[in-house]
Amino acid sequence: MASLAVRYRPTRFGQIVGKNKAILGLYSLVNSDNVPPAILISGSTGTGKTTIARIVAKTFACNSKKENGDVCGVCEDCVAIANSKFPDVKEIDCAVNRGIDAARELQAKASYKPTKARKRVFILDECHQLTKEAFKSLLKLLEEPPESTLFILASSEPTTIPPEIQNRCAHIKIKNLEDSNIRNLLLRTLQAEDRHIDDKDLDALVAASGGTPREALRNLEVFLATGAPPSADDSIAVPAKQVRSWLTDLYQDPLAAVAHVQAFSDAERLVQDMLRANTALVLLRQKVEDPFVMPWLHEIVTMAEPTVSSAIQSALIEAHKTLTHYRPPDARSVLVNVCLQVDSFNQSRNK
Ligand SMILES: Nc1ncnc2c1ncn2[C@@H]1O[C@H](COP(=O)(O)OP(=O)(O)OP(=O)(O)O)[C@@H](O)[C@H]1O
Ligand SMILES: [Mg+2]
Ligand SMILES: [Zn+2]
Repeated sequence: MASLAVRYRPTRFGQIVGKNKAILGLYSLVNSDNVPPAILISGSTGTGKTTIARIVAKTFACNSKKENGDVCGVCEDCVAIANSKFPDVKEIDCAVNRGIDAARELQAKASYKPTKARKRVFILDECHQLTKEAFKSLLKLLEEPPESTLFILASSEPTTIPPEIQNRCAHIKIKNLEDSNIRNLLLRTLQAEDRHIDDKDLDALVAASGGTPREALRNLEVFLATGAPPSADDSIAVPAKQVRSWLTDLYQDPLAAVAHVQAFSDAERLVQDMLRANTALVLLRQKVEDPFVMPWLHEIVTMAEPTVSSAIQSALIEAHKTLTHYRPPDARSVLVNVCLQVDSFNQSRNK
């Protein structure tokens, strides 16, 4: 089954928890007659940037809007957008497609007319990771934006986006949520799951979330499964540690990684983070200047040859695609598959 965060991802504005000025401003902006050609949504990881970008995209496709102008979230088009399967909405993960090829493709496709919706929407996720050349090409598009096209740039590091790009976007800053909002999110989720927990455990979960909805839901999921409340430190340390140890396993002993699959509840997230890390690693090998290199990647680079990095990269890209486009009922099996693929690559290499 998909993780709580995936299952309870808001499908319309009305479901977003913690509607502050920024979200309300965005809501009126996209429902006005003056929709800007580009919107930058920034905020720390897991605060809902991608979720909100998709809801904005629905605004131009949904034909069953509510009286207050919100999208319905359940019609065929809304569902297709939520599943990244709508022809007029294209999501590009700039952590993976960082270079000029992605930018060229964008340039070629941005001028197409929408086929179904009122606008074509390009969601450039983690857009701060684009290369200089790709930004240049994007700037050209923003200088003379094609009619009926909206670019949504999502980023957790907005200050590293070139200022000339930032200046051409309406900037929506998503803040981490207040404790009271996180509490509401957890209570709402518990109710939907028909579960109940003690107040003190709820307090611990709120405190450990650091104001991040995804972290809160992930910790709740672990708590419901194991009964162990998280400590405040876990929320920050565990994910990075997990990415590091998984990637290390894939390089050293992919079969050992199979044994750890059950320990991880958010397979989609893990694959995404490992893919980002491995992309940085591949670039590190090519000596490309990359501000996203984590120091520990230097250690992993020494563990295996470049062909192994490429094999791992392909396996992770495939897994990422499968998880985002096909949403298999058991995401962990996709992780197992990654390990097995890398193992069989090693076997054939050693023959
Ligand atoms: N404001 C919110 N209200 C309710 N749920 C939320 C909200 N923001 C995020 N979530 C939950 O957190 C999950 C993660 O959100 P999302 O993937 O949109 O974050 P993100 O900012 O794009 O993260 P990243 O920077 O890692 O890409 C969602 O699936 C949803 O369950
Ligand atoms: Mg995102
Ligand atoms: Zn709809």
